[in-house]
Amino acid sequence: RLCVSMNVLISGQTKQTARRVFIVVTLLRCCSSSVSDAGGAKLTESPTLARYFGTKTRYEEVNQYLLQNPLLVDKSLVFTPDTDSCTPLQIVAVIRHGTRYPTTKQIKKMKQVYNLVRDKGEGSGDGVVEALKSWQMWYEDWMDGQLVENGKTDMQNLAFRLATLYPSLLSTEKLRGCHMKFVTSSKHRCVDSTKAFIKGFVENYLGLKEDEIQGVECTKPEINDELMRFFDHCQKFVIFIEENATALNQVDVFKTSAEMNTVLEKLAGRLQVSVGDLTADLVQVAFYLCSFELSIKGINSPWCKIFDQEDAEVLEYLNDLKQYWKRGYGHAINSRSSCILFHNIFNYLDQAVSESER
Ligand SMILES: *[C@@H]1O[C@H](CO)[C@@H](O)[C@H](O)[C@H]1NC(C)=O
Repeated sequence: RLCVSMNVLISGQTKQTARRVFIVVTLLRCCSSSVSDAGGAKLTESPTLARYFGTKTRYEEVNQYLLQNPLLVDKSLVFTPDTDSCTPLQIVAVIRHGTRYPTTKQIKKMKQVYNLVRDKGEGSGDGVVEALKSWQMWYEDWMDGQLVENGKTDMQNLAFRLATLYPSLLSTEKLRGCHMKFVTSSKHRCVDSTKAFIKGFVENYLGLKEDEIQGVECTKPEINDELMRFFDHCQKFVIFIEENATALNQVDVFKTSAEMNTVLEKLAGRLQVSVGDLTADLVQVAFYLCSFELSIKGINSPWCKIFDQEDAEVLEYLNDLKQYWKRGYGHAINSRSSCILFHNIFNYLDQAVSESER
């Protein structure tokens, strides 16, 4: 879901931005481009399952060099226009929030699958179940989807890299004149992401201290749910998707598929629990445990060792299927609900063009 939107206005011209997948639209006097990027953790070698995490993939998976240097901008990977013939007028970025904790709903299921393994699981001598039994259940309800510490670092580094690409737009002068704007949804993780993004830009990149930007209004995030949580404000989306028990029907069908049953049976065998104690939801959340441990703690968790590549492919597909019907191409209203945000962005682009022409 979209979170942060940042808006930079340059000499009367406007530009606008908002993180996991991140899009920057750049408007230039002669050309336009789009860039995608991501950013934050520790383990420098990715577990083999890491490429199946879908929306739970850590940002570094896409750009592995960030594990070595999170502030480096690899210009061969981003389209950067020729600055001799092009002048950046405006930048608009729609950015997802940084790495976050699981939601309370996920944590409840995590506890359930952990308790099952702890109370009923039996090892087969390879040490995997033993490792799970001595694993500490450290997720707690209060965490409820909040931004984690390295999620803040994600955002700070992302701001740094973006500013490195567009120094003329993201400068001290433009900030002092408030030729920029940071818009966020009211979600905790999004507000916190936006604050971290601003901090990364102001303190890390520009090197300014907090007291040097006292009174610069635009360094405070502006909350706008209508824009940034457009799906909540689109009645058609709410009725047709969110409140509709059959909108994600295909997801439920796949949960009872032969592919999914094979995963359940293999896992029951590995853990020595009864297959009747497992459900698709519990297996999925065990897989999420593997992904969260990597993105939050930078560790290759014992939860990763209970799945093989084939299982990972099935669970990746399950998550993709859900996103397809809930956020993606499955229903036309999913994309149409973003119309307000789209208009907003294009208005800023049009404005920048016409002011430039004048
Ligand atoms: C719920 O979703 C199904 C499947 O997409 C659709 O046929 C039906 O019209 C929807 N119901 C409502 C109330 O929107």
